[in-house]
Amino acid sequence: MSEADSEVPPSLRLRRLRRTEDLRASLRETRVDPERLVYPVFVRPGGGTPDPIESLPGIDRYPLEGLGDRARGWAQDGVRAVLLFGVPRVKDPEGSDAVDDRGLIPQAIRSIRRTVPTLRILTDVCLCAYTDHGQCGLLRDGEVDNDATVERLARMALAHARAGADIVAPSAMMDHQVRAIRTGLDRAGFTATAILAYAAKFASALYGPFREAAGSAPKGGDRASYQLSPANAREALMEMAADAAEGADLLMVKPGLPYLDILARARRRFDHPLVAYQVSGEYAMIRAAAARGWIDEAAVIDESLLAMRRAGADWIITYFAREVAARARGLRP
Ligand code: PBG
Ligand code: ZN
Repeated sequence: MSEADSEVPPSLRLRRLRRTEDLRASLRETRVDPERLVYPVFVRPGGGTPDPIESLPGIDRYPLEGLGDRARGWAQDGVRAVLLFGVPRVKDPEGSDAVDDRGLIPQAIRSIRRTVPTLRILTDVCLCAYTDHGQCGLLRDGEVDNDATVERLARMALAHARAGADIVAPSAMMDHQVRAIRTGLDRAGFTATAILAYAAKFASALYGPFREAAGSAPKGGDRASYQLSPANAREALMEMAADAAEGADLLMVKPGLPYLDILARARRRFDHPLVAYQVSGEYAMIRAAAARGWIDEAAVIDESLLAMRRAGADWIITYFAREVAARARGLRP
C-alpha cells in the first residue's frame, strides 16, 4: 500500500475549512495587492495621440508630450509603479539615444517625476529598441560584443539615474552588466538607485507583441546567444546567483506563468525580492481568448497574477496592472 493510501486519518476532512466564505477568506494564503504591480509603458518622441499596438490591445505607445498628464491618470487609477521603455524615432548601430542625457527616456522620467512625484519609476536598460540591427548589444564582426555593450549599458543606466529613475532594470542578458551598472552608479554618487536584474530571462517566443510595440525584433538571427534556453532551469539559477553576487537588489524571472518552477526554486534559494514579468505574449493570449468569449477575462487575469504571487513573486510586471488597480478601487466593473 502506498503512503498516500495509508496516511490520511479518517478525522482529516479538508472541506471543513472551505465550508463558508468567512472561513475561506480568513485562510487565504496569497493576495495580489495593487502595490505589488508594475505597469510597463512605451514612450515615443513627439506629440499627438497615442498609437495603438495591434498585438497588445489596450496598450498604446505614448508620445513624450503630455506624458506627465497621462501618468497622473494612471496614478489615479491606482498604478504605483511604471517600467519605461523608449521607442526612439532614429535607430543606429550604437543605439545613440539610449545614452543621451537629453534622450527620450531621461525626458520621460523628468516629466513624470515633475507631475506625479510619488510614482515609482523603473526603466528598462537595453539597446535593442535603439539599435538599427535590433540586437540587445553592440555588434563587432556580426557578433554581440559583451564587454563593450556592458559599458554602454552602464552609461544608459546612469542617464536614467541622473534624470531621477528609482530603479534601473538591465534586460540585455550580458555577462557582468549588473556589476558594471552598480559600479557606474556608485562612482557618480547614485548609491540609492536600485537595480532590478532581468536575471533569468529566457529566449521566449512570447515576446512577439513587445517587439512590435518597440520595433525591436532582431533584423537577422535571434537572441539565443545571450538569453536562456527554455530547457534550462539550473542555468537560470546560476544566472540569478551571478546577478545577486554582482549587486542586484531585486531578481526577475521572465516570462511569468510558463516559468513558475524557476520562480518557486528561486524563492527557496534567494532572500532577495523576486519579480515576475508577465510578458506581452501572455497578455495577448488572455486578451485574444477573452475577446472571443472563450474565457472569463477578469477571472483569468486574477488567477494568473495569484499564481505568480503563490510561486514567490514579490512584484509582478504586467500590462494588466492598470486595469487590475482600477478594479481594486472600484473604478471599473
Ligand atoms: C528588451 C526587452 C524585451 C522585453 C522586455 N525587455 C524584449 C526582448 O528581449 O525581445 C519583453 C517584454 C514583453 O514581451 O512583454 N530586451
Ligand atoms: Zn534587448
